[in-house]
Amino acid sequence: MSHYSSISENVKKITTHVLQEMKTNGEKISMLTAYDYSMGKLIDQAGVDVILVGDSASNVMAGHETTLPITLDNMIYHAASVIRGVKRSLVVVDLPFGSYQGNSKEALNSSIRIMKESGAHAVKMEGGSEIIESVNRIVLSGIPVMGHLGLMPQSIYKYGTYVVRAKEFAEAEKLLSDAKELEKSGCFAIVLEKIPADLATQVAQSVIIPVIGIGAGGGVDGQVLVSHDMLGITQEFSPRFLRRYHNLGEEILGAVANYVKDVKTNDFPNKKEQY
Ligand code: KIV
Repeated sequence: MSHYSSISENVKKITTHVLQEMKTNGEKISMLTAYDYSMGKLIDQAGVDVILVGDSASNVMAGHETTLPITLDNMIYHAASVIRGVKRSLVVVDLPFGSYQGNSKEALNSSIRIMKESGAHAVKMEGGSEIIESVNRIVLSGIPVMGHLGLMPQSIYKYGTYVVRAKEFAEAEKLLSDAKELEKSGCFAIVLEKIPADLATQVAQSVIIPVIGIGAGGGVDGQVLVSHDMLGITQEFSPRFLRRYHNLGEEILGAVANYVKDVKTNDFPNKKEQY
């Protein structure tokens, strides 16, 4: 089955236009990350509007300390896997570190590879005025772009820390002006990560396009979380903004420990579980 086959199925797909309508109508947008087929399928079935194949895969899937090591090939592999499970959600893929910062031609080529090789619906990239030429070029080629401002994990070695961004006036002013530039360049939405709620609300009210927050308060147009964090698979990560909806890590530990016990005690498999 090709990843294009579901287009003919009778499901109201989420498009960038639907997201815009949601903002206009005051309906909040839900967004979660996914990196593989099975989770993509479940998250889509549960009714999440936007699935982000985030470069947080570098952390939660590959175990790296930062998002910097993940490659474009890795991201395409994750995105193609997710796409095969999705019928309704809009699937957005992060351009990984090093695949777009060089120049706008490189940014466009990386975006085209993601769209062609994974079947995804849009790309996301971190940055404001510094990447506007690239955003323009990608949007002009017909690829929808989601911006990402505030805490930008690909710049962690510049910041030196993952603390709240844009608390000072100058950084807040730049963030607001970057958001307006991204909107002008044709971005269909912007993610704001870990910034003061008042500033995020101001940004959401200053642009027409949807603003989706993570650690940016409730005054924006939607929310995004890393699925492994909200499901409690990553147990050590607990910033203030994270609401845990489950403790899957503990459930998995318990289930696996039971399996080990059953194998060791010859309880598994029993007569009904054999041929
Ligand atoms: O990579 C990611 O998961 C993200 C979200 C934190 C927004 O960019």
